[in-house]
Amino acid sequence: MIALGSDHAGYPLKEHIKKHLIEKGIEIIDMGCFSTDSAHYPEYGEKVARAVTGGRADLGVIVCGTGIGISIAANKVSGIRAALCTDSYMARMARLHNDANILALGARVVGMGVAEDIVDTFIHTSFEGGRHSERVDMIMRIKESSD
Ligand code: RB5
Repeated sequence: MIALGSDHAGYPLKEHIKKHLIEKGIEIIDMGCFSTDSAHYPEYGEKVARAVTGGRADLGVIVCGTGIGISIAANKVSGIRAALCTDSYMARMARLHNDANILALGARVVGMGVAEDIVDTFIHTSFEGGRHSERVDMIMRIKESSD
């Protein structure tokens, strides 16, 4: 199950990715937004993040204009490793080395075809584990400091 979310700027690309995944027989859960009316990316970044941490989705794909704001928002949720990728190499490495559980895309940065390729690579690549497990564990142990 893949959770999808976007703001207004990401909406057309989210819809394109939704259609692409459904055509491939992949189950999706659409957390919104549902039109190009102005929407706040933190809301949808958090919704997708909570769908992943809550176990309703295995992975998430989030889209805003640049992918930056919505990835920053998703990464505020404990347990989330959201990776902003602009090509399939980054998507592959985000899964292999970082065990990223959310892919962030910039609808104003990548074209539809490149985005499809990035999504396919992300969802079909597994974490390599090994020496990368310790590093991912270190990330997940980072707590807000009091300084
Ligand atoms: C919306 O105009 C834009 O700021 C938003 O989609 C995103 O790019 C923010 O990071």
